[in-house]
Amino acid sequence: MSVHEPLHFVVLLGSLRRGSFNAAVARALPGLAPPGVAIAPLGSIGDFPIYNGDVEAQGIPAPVVAMGETIGKADGVIVVTPEYNYSIPGGLKNAIDWLSRLKPQPFLDKPVAIESASPGMLGGARAQYHLRQTFVMLEARVFNKPEVFVGQANHKIDASGALTDPPTRDIIAKQLAAFAAFVHGHQRAAAMT
Ligand SMILES: Cc1cc2nc3c(=O)[nH]c(=O)nc-3n(C[C@H](O)[C@H](O)[C@H](O)COP(=O)(O)O)c2cc1C
Repeated sequence: MSVHEPLHFVVLLGSLRRGSFNAAVARALPGLAPPGVAIAPLGSIGDFPIYNGDVEAQGIPAPVVAMGETIGKADGVIVVTPEYNYSIPGGLKNAIDWLSRLKPQPFLDKPVAIESASPGMLGGARAQYHLRQTFVMLEARVFNKPEVFVGQANHKIDASGALTDPPTRDIIAKQLAAFAAFVHGHQRAAAMT
């Protein structure tokens, strides 16, 4: 692996809802990225069927293959997701399950950062810790701190869908800068092996 400049990150969004708070956070990311980092959305997880081994036996669906290829080429993935019932939303878990069936497995050794937003106080923290568990299985390189939990998100996003809360924007910018340094370190280490 070589060291890339600029870095190219892709965003995996865990909500399909029009007016999603998490989509608002995801839209804010390019404007909060440090110099030398480009951030682009992945396709919709809503294009994936529910995982079924019989469907897989007929061939992995084209949207899964396309997303896997895009993740494979990216320097890092930023997952932005709600929490459902203290865990990972089913649609996002389904997407990760499909992607995990690809060869090469796109999350293998892939730097991943996680953000979550919720109207609740904890901002989706429990979903993040379940996601980390899944990414252990997939051997992703999950970034640790600073963590981004956007609690009371309904008060931090305006009527136009813009993330306006200054402390939230600040912690996201800090996370993106630290994640970029983490990815560069990972690429340098890989280049030496
Ligand atoms: C099925 C379901 C379960 C939910 N469970 C949680 C939960 O465990 N924790 C939480 O903070 N919010 C929970 N919520 C509320 C979501 O945080 C809220 O709907 C949020 O707006 C979803 O994110 P989005 O705006 O990006 O779609 C749940 C919502 C749904 C629909």
